[in-house]
Amino acid sequence: MITTSTPAPFSILCVVGARPNFMKMAPIMAALSAIEPKIDVRLVHTGQHYDVAMNHQYFEALGIPSPDINLEVGSGSHAIQTADVMRRFEPALDEVAPTAVLVVGDVNSTIACALVATKKGIPVIHVEAGLRSFDRAMPEEINRVLTDQMSDLLFTTEESGRANLLREGVADSRIHFVGNVMIDTLRRNLERAVPTATIVADAGRPDFLSGGRPYAILTLHRPSNVDDRETLKALLETAVRISARTPVIFPLHPRTRATIEKFGLDGLLDTPDILLLPPMGYLEMLGLMKDARVVLTDSGGIQEETTALGVPCITLRNNTERPITVDEGTNTVAGQDPAKIMAIYEELLQGGGKAGRVPQFWDGKAAVRIADTIHAWMQNGCTTI
Ligand code: UD1
Repeated sequence: MITTSTPAPFSILCVVGARPNFMKMAPIMAALSAIEPKIDVRLVHTGQHYDVAMNHQYFEALGIPSPDINLEVGSGSHAIQTADVMRRFEPALDEVAPTAVLVVGDVNSTIACALVATKKGIPVIHVEAGLRSFDRAMPEEINRVLTDQMSDLLFTTEESGRANLLREGVADSRIHFVGNVMIDTLRRNLERAVPTATIVADAGRPDFLSGGRPYAILTLHRPSNVDDRETLKALLETAVRISARTPVIFPLHPRTRATIEKFGLDGLLDTPDILLLPPMGYLEMLGLMKDARVVLTDSGGIQEETTALGVPCITLRNNTERPITVDEGTNTVAGQDPAKIMAIYEELLQGGGKAGRVPQFWDGKAAVRIADTIHAWMQNGCTTI
C-alpha cells in the first residue's frame, strides 16, 4: 500500500539574526517541534551577526537546528542593515509562505522581518514583547515599539510589558504573559556551564584567580557606552579601580574591541587584574556569570540571567527595559557615573548585594506555554483567543 505523508497544516518561519536571539530561539523551536499534530517549523538566520564567535558556538551548544535559510546580510548602518534584511527576507517568505512569522527580542533583524511579514498579511508573533526603556535614543527601543505595533500575538516576560502595550493601544487579548524563554535555556544548560577555572586556564592565565579569589565580570557593547571616547574611558577606568580589589574578566564584543583600539584606550586595560577575552560561547558565559561576585553590564539579557542566578548585577545604563530585575531581582541601575558605580560596588562588597528572588514564570517552561498558545491560536484561524 502506498502511503503519502500529508503536509503539516500549519507552518512557522522563525527568525534569528544576532547573538541575543539564539538563546531565546532554542527552547521555542524545541517546544514548537514537539507540538502534535506537527507544525512545520523553519528557521531563517539573517546573518546580522556573522563572526564564528558570535554564532556557531551558540548553535552548537544550544542544539539549535542549522538554519533552513541564510540571508547573510552582515554589518552596515542601521538603515542599510535593516533594508538588506527586508530585501533578502521577502523572497524567502514568499517561498516558505508560512502561516506566521515568529520574531524574538529587539534587534534590527526583528523589526525588519516583522515589517516584511505584516505588509504581506502574514501574522507576526513577537516573543519578549512590551519591554520599554522609554529611551528613544536606543535603537532597540525603536525596534521594540514598532515590532509590537505590527504583532498579532505578543508574549511578555514580565507583567510590566502588558501595561506598556495596553498604553500603546495593543488589544489585551493579543498579550500573553508566559515568562522568560532565556531562562528556559539557562536552566536547561546550567549543569553544562564551563567552569571559570577552565576558561582562565584556556586563556593562558591559570593563575588569574589563584586561591579562588572572588571576581567580577564586565560586558559592554551599547553604542551609548562604547561609541563616545570619554564615556568609554570613564567606564574602563572604573573597571581598573574595581580590579584592584576584585579581578575583572572582560569578554570583548567586536564593537567594543574596535572602539577601544580606535580611541587608543588599550593601554588603560594593561593591568594584570583585568583579563580580556574574546566573545564567549553560551556555556562559557554561563559559567563565568554563575560564580561571579558581581557582574557589571550594559546588556539586557545579562540583567535577567543574573537575576535568575541570584548574582548581583550593576547595570551600566541610565535605565532598564527589564524593571522586574530591579524590583524583584539582583539588579541595580547605576548609569555611567564612576562615583555612583563605585558606591554601589562598595555597598555590595560590604552588604553582600541584593539577594533578590526569581520572578514569576521564569521557571523553565515559558517556551512550552508559548507553543501551546500558538497552537491554539492557529487552530482558531490565527485570531486571538
Ligand atoms: C546588536 C543588537 C543589540 C544586541 C547586540 C548583541 C541591534 C540594533 N543591536 O548590536 O540589540 O544587544 O547585537 O551583540 O540590532 N560585528 C562583528 N562581528 C559580528 C557582528 C558584528 O565584527 O558577528 C561588528 C560589526 O561589524 C559592527 C559592530 O560589531 O561594527 C556592531 O554590530 P551590530 O550588529 O551593528 O550591532 P551590535 O552592537 O552587535
